[in-house]
Amino acid sequence: MAFDRWFNRNLNKIWGFVEDRAGIPKWALRPQPAFTFKPSYWTGAFVANAFLTQVVTGLLLLLYYQPSVNPTLTSCGQALGTLSVSPGAWCSTYYIIHTVPMGNLLLSTHLYGAYAMIFLAFVHFFRGFYLGVYKKPREFSWMVGTLLLLATLGMGFTGYLLPYTTLSYDATNVGIVLALRLPTLGPLTAPFLLGDGTAQGLLSRMFGLHVLVIPLAIGALLYAHIALFESHGIAPPATSDPLQRPRYTEADDKKHVPFWPHIFFYITKWALLYLGLLFGIAALWPWQLPTYVGNTAAPTPVIEPDWYFLWLFKLVDFYGVTPVIAVGATTALALFILFLPFLDRSPRRHPRDRPVLVIIGNSLIGFFLVMTVWGGLTPGVQILPASVAETLGPILATNLVVVPLFYLRYRASYRRRLLQRGGQYRLPGAYPVAARTVAPAPSASPAARAAEGVPRDG
Ligand code: HEM
Repeated sequence: MAFDRWFNRNLNKIWGFVEDRAGIPKWALRPQPAFTFKPSYWTGAFVANAFLTQVVTGLLLLLYYQPSVNPTLTSCGQALGTLSVSPGAWCSTYYIIHTVPMGNLLLSTHLYGAYAMIFLAFVHFFRGFYLGVYKKPREFSWMVGTLLLLATLGMGFTGYLLPYTTLSYDATNVGIVLALRLPTLGPLTAPFLLGDGTAQGLLSRMFGLHVLVIPLAIGALLYAHIALFESHGIAPPATSDPLQRPRYTEADDKKHVPFWPHIFFYITKWALLYLGLLFGIAALWPWQLPTYVGNTAAPTPVIEPDWYFLWLFKLVDFYGVTPVIAVGATTALALFILFLPFLDRSPRRHPRDRPVLVIIGNSLIGFFLVMTVWGGLTPGVQILPASVAETLGPILATNLVVVPLFYLRYRASYRRRLLQRGGQYRLPGAYPVAARTVAPAPSASPAARAAEGVPRDG
């Protein structure tokens, strides 16, 4: 016990010293409101943690990886016990798996870590989408976030080629053909992606983008993203309360929890759980390296990308969908997401009050899930319009029926509950503008809010 006290006292002193000299509370690691101690408020931090893990495992892989398409007689030859004629990139990957101590664990952790980061970025995105966190004053946070999502997918795309397997080479080429169809941007970016048009030119560019250009862009975007987050404070729980204040910064609310030790240990707990799971999965199911580019003895594999691009590959299989249409639709979707804060201007944030956005969100999730499974089961198989309507139609139809029913049902019961409590009810969009400007901000605590007649429905 005495040791505990001594330990905590000194740790606090050290942290206080660092915090004071670095001026940390002014620009990062700020105290947060107590209501944020739920995983759903930390989805962005989970993505950031996954990114840091990728940086560390990636730097370790960089010690051994050789971005060359030329046959190498060194690393892989030693591992195989023969003089290898496989490309250097594949060979060094083979060497990492078979010779470097714990290399297989390292490589598999990096690969599954990439899957986890992409998955978590989508979770973070959809949470924000459903809970309307992009609304005033967080429009820029959302736009920077969209760029982060695109950059994260770019990391996946550029990393796929690096082991230089037949599968990754063919799929990357299909992806590049698609990307180059992008009007104006495609021809402009072609020289950057393809270089001199040789296989080495492509590998070098993918390598440069993967290990330097995109990670630096992610670092810079993340800095802006977190700075914006710190300046606006976390978005309060979504509610139908028209008087809810949009900011929850320290200036508005003194009851914030300090970073040290509370937030630090809360985040560390989740980070350790993440690492434990990742290492466990990587150790139990290590990645198997497919054969190298140019191995004529091996059977030709079916061309398919990693799971997060399967939906796009499947889209091109639809009858009548040309690469231009597929890329055009994807660009339109990305632009819709980027400018969503300016398309959806209503101040309503609770999903209960935003049936149209819920229909769009559910349909997008359904579309991605079905297309991913479809792409995995039938890669390269052409799909006729009737089959598309049969498979994707029910997702949209169910949403168009079920969401409005829920909306009407909940609107009615919510109205009843509010009236019972003596509160007010207003239809979405009908805000009491005068009341909003004169009424004091509702209290933070649920008990005080209930006493004021403000619904506790976050
Ligand atoms: C590499 C990807 C990303 C990283 C590392 C990241 C990181 C973060 C972090 C650390 C926060 C602070 C709150 C929290 O921990 O949840 C945050 C908040 C936020 N992020 Fe992201 N983010 C990423 C992608 C995105 C995407 C794709 C979007 C949406 C298009 C987005 C939109 C937002 C918004 C609006 C906030 C403020 C949320 C609030 O106040 O509740 N982010 N992000």
